[in-house]
Amino acid sequence: MKLPPYPIFPTLSGETISLRQIVAEDIKDLIEISFYDGIQATSVQKATEMQTKINLDYANGNSIHWGIADKLTNKIIGTCGYYRGLDKGAGELGCILLPNYRGQGFMTSAMQLAIEFGLNTIKLNRIWAITTKTNEKAIQLLEQLNFIKIADLEDNEIEYELRTN
Ligand SMILES: CC(C)(COP(=O)(O)OP(=O)(O)OC[C@H]1O[C@@H](n2cnc3c(N)ncnc32)[C@H](O)[C@@H]1OP(=O)(O)O)[C@@H](O)C(=O)NCCC(=O)NCCS
Repeated sequence: MKLPPYPIFPTLSGETISLRQIVAEDIKDLIEISFYDGIQATSVQKATEMQTKINLDYANGNSIHWGIADKLTNKIIGTCGYYRGLDKGAGELGCILLPNYRGQGFMTSAMQLAIEFGLNTIKLNRIWAITTKTNEKAIQLLEQLNFIKIADLEDNEIEYELRTN
């Protein structure tokens, strides 16, 4: 196991996107996709406060949160990361794209990079994701990435797990 934090924040590079650390200049573009404890940010100040908590979670080894950058512009178009479970050698993968960047395959590519890092660098023994039964786009994304549904949870939620064999 190689848990966060790392000496250098890991940047992961795909064909059209990269996963990189979020910096202060990015925050203004990310307000509508900034969440912490299920609460959405409504201002740069709130999103900055959330990013501070996210950075602390990373420093404490509890999570890793990447910005998904368009490689042409270096602009952040979404985020993804592992948000729970690292202390048990597992990782709950979460993700969100800005609405303008959906439907183009960016998240499939981002999740492939995050999964590869989770399995080969962190050496997670399990990767899972939780969504709702009605979130068709998330279900489509997860199934395409080889996740299978393993449980029906409360509040209309469902749990998916990455199949690795
Ligand atoms: C879930 C979410 C990230 C999915 O985004 P998405 O844009 O559908 O996913 P991708 O970026 O992988 O794009 C897939 C789409 O691009 C198309 N596509 C184009 N080129 C592609 C490529 N090279 N590879 C894969 N898909 C490609 C696919 O056909 C698919 O199109 P469709 O939506 O018309 O079926 C997005 O809906 C979102 O941010 N939702 C809100 C947050 C959320 O629900 N998070 C999930 C928590 S588990």
